[in-house]
Amino acid sequence: PLVTTGELITRAAATRSAVAAFNIITLEHVEAVVAGAETTGTPVVLQVSENAVRFRYGRLLPLARAAAAAAERAAVPVALHLDHVQSDDLLRQAPDAGFSSVMYDAARLPYAENLAATRAAAGWAHAHGLWIEAELGQIGGKDGRPPLDAHAPGARTDPAQARDFVAATGVDALAVAIGSAHAMTTRTATLDHGLLRRLAAALPVPLVLHGSSGVPDEGLVAAVAGGISKVNVGTALNAAMTGAVREFLEAHPEAVDTRTYLGVGREAMAREVARLIGVLTPG
Ligand code: G3H
Ligand code: ZN
Repeated sequence: PLVTTGELITRAAATRSAVAAFNIITLEHVEAVVAGAETTGTPVVLQVSENAVRFRYGRLLPLARAAAAAAERAAVPVALHLDHVQSDDLLRQAPDAGFSSVMYDAARLPYAENLAATRAAAGWAHAHGLWIEAELGQIGGKDGRPPLDAHAPGARTDPAQARDFVAATGVDALAVAIGSAHAMTTRTATLDHGLLRRLAAALPVPLVLHGSSGVPDEGLVAAVAGGISKVNVGTALNAAMTGAVREFLEAHPEAVDTRTYLGVGREAMAREVARLIGVLTPG
């Protein structure tokens, strides 16, 4: 069934566990994530980024409707989340398109502007029943830009500043920069677990890990133990699908029917979803 992101994250935070949030781009992503979650019997978040909307010719509704239909029929609770929203126009489409939550991304702006923009977005979101996540610090690696040095101290989220930011904006969750970066195809990110514990102690809201594809399994387990309640994964699913499709097409150069290779790619993606959920929710 379709549920809200807020209820999934609240429950996860209360039990020191985490909800996996997977970025969806195609219908195959939707089906693979739901299938992987059903295999493990675990709730999941389907998230659509502003970049994914751009890929869909700028239209949110076709993918959103597919995701909502899949969520309603799923055997596990599924929530819909709008990810890395920079455009106020897209933010305003969220409630009618079936999303219960948004991540408003103004982290590229200087601190005072990030705070002002996020406070305004949070006011609008709450007035329209949306749960809202924001970002402070520089996680990096978005929009084809090289990941900025994730280990540079200035890129990291400062606990005292984060406490002020959350209090001033009223956001429901915070994405923190603790050493991960977006779009990594190697799992070599080293998280600063000491900083994560300080952030968790300083902040009254659940914390979100972005760029989780680059974090090794042990790092993910430690991050959840340290206070991460939402784990965002995108690139790892694309890598699983693309690898399987590439292998299939190399072995079957005569293939024409799109279902043959998309089916293989979807299966590989569903297996990676189930594997990652297993890492995040052991037992
Ligand atoms: O918001 C989305 C996530 O941060 C995905 O990052 O593609 O590096 O796993 P990733
Ligand atoms: Zn992200």
